[in-house]
Amino acid sequence: MTEKRLKLYIETYGCQMNVADSEVVASILQQNNYELTAKAGEAGLILVNTCSVRENAEQRVKARLENYMSLKKKNKDLLIGVIGCMAERMKEKLLEEEPVVDLIAGPDAYRELPELIRIASTGQKGINTMLSVEETYGDIRPVRYDSNGVTAFVSIMRGCDNYCAYCVVPYTRGRERSRDPESVLREVDEAFKSGNREVTLLGQNVNSYRWEDKSRVTDFADLLELTAQVSPLLRIRFSTSHPKDLPDKVLRIIAGNANICRSIHLPVQSGSTSVLERMRRGYTRESYLERISALRFFIPEVSLSTDIITGFCGETNEEHQQTLSLLRKVGFDFAFMFKYSERPGTFAAENFPDDVPEEIKTSRLNEIIKLQNSISLKIKKQDIGRIYEVLIEGVSKRSDQFLMGRTSQNKVAVFPAGNHKPGEYVNVRTLSVSSATLLAEIINH
Ligand code: SAH
Ligand code: SF4
Ligand code: F3S
Repeated sequence: MTEKRLKLYIETYGCQMNVADSEVVASILQQNNYELTAKAGEAGLILVNTCSVRENAEQRVKARLENYMSLKKKNKDLLIGVIGCMAERMKEKLLEEEPVVDLIAGPDAYRELPELIRIASTGQKGINTMLSVEETYGDIRPVRYDSNGVTAFVSIMRGCDNYCAYCVVPYTRGRERSRDPESVLREVDEAFKSGNREVTLLGQNVNSYRWEDKSRVTDFADLLELTAQVSPLLRIRFSTSHPKDLPDKVLRIIAGNANICRSIHLPVQSGSTSVLERMRRGYTRESYLERISALRFFIPEVSLSTDIITGFCGETNEEHQQTLSLLRKVGFDFAFMFKYSERPGTFAAENFPDDVPEEIKTSRLNEIIKLQNSISLKIKKQDIGRIYEVLIEGVSKRSDQFLMGRTSQNKVAVFPAGNHKPGEYVNVRTLSVSSATLLAEIINH
């Protein structure tokens, strides 16, 4: 007997972990008589996978939910669910504020979705925001529904125990737990066999990955090496590394395996030791700079990116100048730059006034962005004439006569297609650079 399948539309906000989680959710619901659609208008169930990291991330979701009201007026049976970090943070309060919502599931409750949907379809509200100390969804094969077929995310751990003073993630994602290396390797292997040529290992702090078996311990460096051995044709990336525990052992493994990408995202947040102390980051300006020197020593061709928060509680102009000076000193290829946004319940919200005025946050952010843009462009210009191996990911946005791919350093290159296809490796020479890309040509091998 074939039952008619119900249509599911998933919309994902936030970080790469949420993208990976949406693939787990798609898998769980496909086993429960749902099929995915790319059109919200034809769905019977809409799930919004949400982020709480800054206030504006939540506002965007709220605006979106208001939009869905009109779809619900057209289709009385339509169910709308909020899942992910905002579901976890707000819990029942979300139902009061957003009457359009029928069900709520936190990041550790996705196995319960079929039951929550059943409850919601009877007209009641379905809600489960229980956090778990062991859930990793390790046995679930993610459905890579929005994938380019070349690059895939593989989650290796969940949660975070660091409690940086500004950050809501430990409250929305729960305790840190690592996933069994066997299930990680199985997923990496399957991703490769189905045509992917790059995997990104995901966790809030991958360096604290740790799995203990009766006979042995697997740490992040070990896991990295095991995944690199799956195939020399498979590139490995990982995110995010915490500067307080990036050991030389990891750097040596990267240096020794050509298919582990020469690109590290190492969020510094601030260049001032006193701000880092208030943020409870567990490292100083000096120890961060020492790790950067070690990175450059072990992996000379490495590219570096970072995250910056400006205007954290009590930040003085002097402390702000320290951030500018660190940016000049390191020379990051790229940075994500944010204004501090107070999150309810965090250590900073409970203990420090959010006392840097909005205009000052804005002017400091603009100063940081301007400086970083000039640094990024200067570094990019050095790439002109250089040859890089690029993994082709797809057709360029500007024209289907061009392909786009990334270098090991995570730089985007665009070049005339020739006879090449996504999933292939080609060598390209950089002809010119724009703010975001290397414009290049394929050279003969
Ligand atoms: N686990 C990662 C980061 C996760 S959140 C790490 O530790 O590096 C991604 C980024 O969002 C952070 O690096 C930080 O720069 C930014 N962020 C987190 N909380 C924030 C807040 N309250 N206000 C502004 N930016 C924030
Ligand atoms: Fe947030 Fe800090 Fe954990 Fe990163 S390490 S998720 S910034 S608490
Ligand atoms: Fe946002 Fe949650 Fe990721 S708060 S950044 S979606 S872990």
